[in-house]
Amino acid sequence: MDIITTVTDLLFAKKKYLTAPVLVPTMGALHDGHLALIEKARAIAGPNGCVAVSIFVNPIQFDNPDDLKNYPSTLQRDIAICGERGVDLLFTPDTGSLYSANHSTVITEDCLASKLCGATRSGHFDGVCTVVAKLFNIFTPIDAVFGKKDYQQLAIINRMVRDLNFQVIIHGVDTVRENDGLALSSRNVHLSSDARTQAPAIRQAMLLAQKSLASGVDDSAKLLEAMKSHLSTHAPLAEINYLECVCANSLQPQVRIIQKSLITIAACFGDVRLIDNIELVPA
Ligand code: PAJ
Repeated sequence: MDIITTVTDLLFAKKKYLTAPVLVPTMGALHDGHLALIEKARAIAGPNGCVAVSIFVNPIQFDNPDDLKNYPSTLQRDIAICGERGVDLLFTPDTGSLYSANHSTVITEDCLASKLCGATRSGHFDGVCTVVAKLFNIFTPIDAVFGKKDYQQLAIINRMVRDLNFQVIIHGVDTVRENDGLALSSRNVHLSSDARTQAPAIRQAMLLAQKSLASGVDDSAKLLEAMKSHLSTHAPLAEINYLECVCANSLQPQVRIIQKSLITIAACFGDVRLIDNIELVPA
């Protein structure tokens, strides 16, 4: 595995490969969710192709300085994991080598990014789009892999790729979960033990909605009400930031589930903010 820390070195490292890399952008603190993305990248690249992983905690996507300061860093462990998983190129730049001191260009997606998480996390998706665009320019991948856990991020990246004609195919990977249903996240380690016990109620509420839809209830208000009631009983520590039923493509609120939709939630357990979602397809 080549471990590269500068953009120039990456240019030379890429020359070793006959095919464009399949890129998996991450912020490190790798868990099984990230590993599922790496596995998907290998499946796309084939045994002789190039799987590239970036690990970069992107400061401009953090709206809260404490969140950035507390973001977990496990670089030596991450390097070992990437080596074991057969990653070919690992890119771990520092901030100075990715952003010039007077960096002044950002990418704004102007529709999807203002909804859901974007409504309260000002500038967050500008930061995501900008760093992902930079990574696409640096790696020139034909394929890149993202998780559906961050569904809004995935939708925004798809939109950016379409709107700006990035020559890259975006692949979405299903959310990897703990046995009790909690979506894997680097934030889970910060949950108190009571919060950790209650957090799987998020997934249970999602599955309840899926079951109700299958039994013919397609009124989103009813589904969301039932979810809220489940959460207030089984996860009283959860403070819901949003719980919405939206169109899976436009992220516009849905009154009735008559097309592929998404129920999506952000909830805080103390200062740990969890997000999750479920795709719903009408019968
Ligand atoms: P990060 O939170 O490290 O996530 C990297 C990728 O892993 C994202 O595509 C995310 O959706 C995916 N992922 C995280 N948890 C997952 C899970 N439980 N199951 C499946 N996939 C999961 O998302 C970011 O980093 C950054 O915003 C980034 C895109 C790297 C830009 O800085």
